[in-house]
This record gives sequence, C-alpha cells and structure tokens, in this order.
Amino acid sequence: MAKVIETEDLSVAFGEGDGQNIIFRHLNISVEAGEFVTLVGVSGAGKSTLLRVIADLIPPYEGSVKIDTPQDRARRRIAMVFQSANLMPWRKIGDNVGLGLEGIEVSPEQCRERVRSTLDLVGLGDFSDRWPYQLSGGQRQRVGIARALAVDPDILLMDEPFGALDAITRIALQDELLRIWRETKKSVLFVTHDIEEAVYLGDRVLLLGDRPAHIVNEYKIDIARSQRREGENFMRKVEEVKAGLVDAMALSDGAA
Ligand SMILES: Nc1ncnc2c1ncn2[C@@H]1O[C@H](COP(=O)(O)OP(=O)(O)OP(=O)(O)O)[C@@H](O)[C@H]1O
Ligand SMILES: [Mg+2]
Repeated sequence: MAKVIETEDLSVAFGEGDGQNIIFRHLNISVEAGEFVTLVGVSGAGKSTLLRVIADLIPPYEGSVKIDTPQDRARRRIAMVFQSANLMPWRKIGDNVGLGLEGIEVSPEQCRERVRSTLDLVGLGDFSDRWPYQLSGGQRQRVGIARALAVDPDILLMDEPFGALDAITRIALQDELLRIWRETKKSVLFVTHDIEEAVYLGDRVLLLGDRPAHIVNEYKIDIARSQRREGENFMRKVEEVKAGLVDAMALSDGAA
C-alpha cells in the first residue's frame, strides 16, 4: 500500500535558546492510503501539534512530512476537523460548509452540489439554511465534518472531534464516520483520549509517549469492526492499549 503521510525524523520545537521546548524528536509515523489510524497519548504529549505539522499549519524544526496524494486544483489534499466545530455564527450552515471551497477551483454550481451532498452524508440535508445557534452540539460537530469533507480531501485529520459529546451521540457519530470513510475511501488520522474509541475505529492505534514525544507502541487491530463494540477480543485489545498508556504515563511522570 502506498503511504499518503510519512514523517521522517520529524522534530518540532517551540521557542528558542534556553526556553526552547522540543515536542518531538525524530518521530517516524506513516498512514497508508485508505487506512484509518488512531492516535492516543498522554495529555500534552503533542498529538494536536503533530496534526498541525502534518496539515502544514506549523513548520517542522527538523526532518520532514511527506504527503503523497494526487494534486488537483478542485480539491484539497488535507482537511482537518477540530475538537470544537468553530462554526462562524454569522454564516448559515450551508455557507459554513462551503468555507473551504472558497480557495479552490470549483464552479458555484459544483460548490452548491458539494455542500448539499456532504450535508446529506452527515445526515443534515435539511439544515443548510439554519444558523449555527439553532443546532445541537452533535449537529454542529457533524457540520465540522461536512466542512472538511466538502473539499474532498484524500486525508482527513481529526483532533478529538467527538470529545465534547454525550456517549450516545458519540457512538452514533463514530458509526457515521466509519460509513463515510468506507464510502469515500479517505485516509484518516484521528486523535482521541478514549481508548475504546481508538480501538473501535482504528486499523491501527499509535500510542504517543511524552518528553520528547515518540511512538511508544503500535497496536494492529485485526478484529472485524462488527465484533468491536463489546466482544472479548475487543475488550482484551482495549485493556492492552490502556496498560500501554498507563506505562507511558508512569514514564512521563518519572521524567518530570
Ligand atoms: N504554539 C505553541 N507555543 C508553545 N508551546 C506550544 C504551542 N502549542 C503547543 N505547545 C506545547 O506543546 C506541547 C504539546 O501540545 P499539544 O497541544 O500538541 O498536546 P496534546 O497531546 O494535543 O494534548 P491534549 O491531549 O491535552 O490535547 C504542550 O506542552 C504545549 O504546551
Ligand atoms: Mg490536543
């Protein structure tokens, strides 16, 4: 399988001189085309920072990020979904979803069609003319996902997109995301604090340890997704990743 994201000896640092804070050093991770990779780790380890470097929102300090997807002026190669949907309150839902389309080469009709089809995809086909304040938190989160999908990216970076939702909405959106992922064949890198969510969604779970951040462990999840909500194998895998995270936290405390 071709790698769509590959970091090579990636280091990221904030600040300079004595105040310099190195977040990762020589980090090597990859995501293959069509793969769903989840990333868990200690709070503050650098998960959001990693997504931001991959999205080219902050530069590497050393090393590089290689993105290998086709160039197409009518699409974006990468789109990001943030923890809170950050909708613009003065724009209707449809106009919020169309936001990312403003910089790419699509006609006004194509733009309307993309907004319509992505809102349909997230189950909000009738919401285009509503205002953000008229939506629930879960609905707003879906709009954030639609906004990212509207630019038809090959790569979807998701930073704890369901973190603020109640358990029932979260489960529904996880399943919706898996359906969309299957239908659109995107490559996904998904950050979460919730180990069950990581094991439920991922083909692979990466565990990021702290100071400087590095991949402590990687878990391949070779359990059919239909068996993942509560089967014995699923629970065993969840326990295994939890134990890895506890070890990583102990190491990070020791270094403090
Ligand atoms: N712009 C910045 N300037 C300076 N330091 C930063 C900046 N952004 C992040 N950091 C630092 O980088 C480290 C990693 O932050 P990051 O937000 O990536 O962690 P995280 O793993 O996403 O944490 P959480 O799980 O709490 O979201 C933290 O120590 C943070 O203080
Ligand atoms: Mg974060």
